[in-house]
Amino acid sequence: MSAKKKLKNKDDLRIRLDINNIFEEVIGGEEGFTRQELEAAKDKALKARDNILKAEAEGKMGFMELPYKQKEVIKDLKETAEKLKEKFDNLVVLGIGGSALGNIAVQTAINDPYYNSFEEARNGYPRLFVSDNVDPEGIRAMLDKLDPEKTVFNVISKSGSTAETMSQFLLARKIIAEEVGEDKVGEHFIATTSSDSGYLIEIAEREGMKKFYIPDNVGGRFSVLTPVGLLSAAFTGVDIEALLDGAAYMDKISREADFWENPALINGLIHYLAFKKGKVMSVMMPYSDRLRDVADWYRQLWAESLGKEVNRQGEKVNVGPTPIKALGATDQHSQAQLYMEGPYDKIITFLEVENFAEELEIPSAYEDLDGLGYLGGHSFAELINTEKKATELALNKRKRMNQTVKVPEVNEFTLGQLFYFFEFQTAVAGELFDINAFNQPGVELGKNYTYGIFGRDGYHDKKEEFEKSAKHDDDLIL
Ligand code: PA5
Repeated sequence: MSAKKKLKNKDDLRIRLDINNIFEEVIGGEEGFTRQELEAAKDKALKARDNILKAEAEGKMGFMELPYKQKEVIKDLKETAEKLKEKFDNLVVLGIGGSALGNIAVQTAINDPYYNSFEEARNGYPRLFVSDNVDPEGIRAMLDKLDPEKTVFNVISKSGSTAETMSQFLLARKIIAEEVGEDKVGEHFIATTSSDSGYLIEIAEREGMKKFYIPDNVGGRFSVLTPVGLLSAAFTGVDIEALLDGAAYMDKISREADFWENPALINGLIHYLAFKKGKVMSVMMPYSDRLRDVADWYRQLWAESLGKEVNRQGEKVNVGPTPIKALGATDQHSQAQLYMEGPYDKIITFLEVENFAEELEIPSAYEDLDGLGYLGGHSFAELINTEKKATELALNKRKRMNQTVKVPEVNEFTLGQLFYFFEFQTAVAGELFDINAFNQPGVELGKNYTYGIFGRDGYHDKKEEFEKSAKHDDDLIL
């Protein structure tokens, strides 16, 4: 089921960043960078790296500690997963944003695409559902079909109070209490939350739930390599140690003081300079179904971290490249036209898998038909990667800035590298934009209005604001 091939030499599995197509010699002087431009800005990037390492030494860069400081947690996660697997057929993750997207990205990348649908695709592991929205129809459709006796929920909320997650918890709790027994609630829920604040930790203690903690210095969108993402991974047979090993491998590379040897640093700088050059959209386009949800995860990481109103001096800057996710080859038939001929406002990052676990030959037939016969004898792996190369060439011809992250194969080790690479790159970009990449005041504001409108204590001013603004002019509802 999972892509658990024996790891080759780690260096063979190193992901690499190909930046050929950002330069003027490929995409022309107006759109591309010169090497001198990057050289000239290199000190800025190195300063960003120094600041990150300084912040790390002050205990502020929790995501950088994760590959190394979780031995006990890993042991606990694996034991818990092993124990609960005997008892439950379904694991439901209740969480949203940073508390959900990493779970989905790992699952899609490592496990069988039809993991939930077929027993043989699961190899004895429980099904995984990630319920990351509060659409009543979606929730009902899922909960109605799961046998409560055989279902365990991992409630993930760092703040322990997010309305979407806690509402789903209240519903799931009611179902378990009614159908399995009030005294069994604690057995059917795991709480993954902050160790010392929020309501979830209090509830977990009251109900006797198993608890996992999200370190204080790791924000939601940087938390995939904490129990937030690792518990569902361990539950579904993913090798979580290899994930962390991959992250540790990329951590070493990302600390490199030689700019040209540090791809995450280079890429943070490229994106910053691209933004300044008017390329305010950052497209991530994996040519791989397995990596499609890495692009979704990255979209949140990039948007919430870099979309900021004020800089560190409190000046209004309103910065942030808009992340866009696409999927190759599928979106060649949906988005590529815009990327080729629309505004020159994008930098496109392809994720290319060099070795697919499956080559899958295209059978030969109709060889007398020129427009069809040429396909036979090639493989699907060849086709998808040729399509990527063809799109890349077409973009170059149209002077569109693009680059490629080359992934030798998709497995836990390379996935861990990818997570860490993009996290470090985000921290670098935050430094260069001189903003706080680790807060999310905009998200909090939306949450606070919801609390106010629903009548939560302490948020009455938000309710008043809402009521004032809610006086819509009916004539304008057309
Ligand atoms: O990245 C973030 O900080 C957010 O997307 C949060 O993960 C999301 O809002 C959920 O928050 P919480 O984990 O507190 O429920």
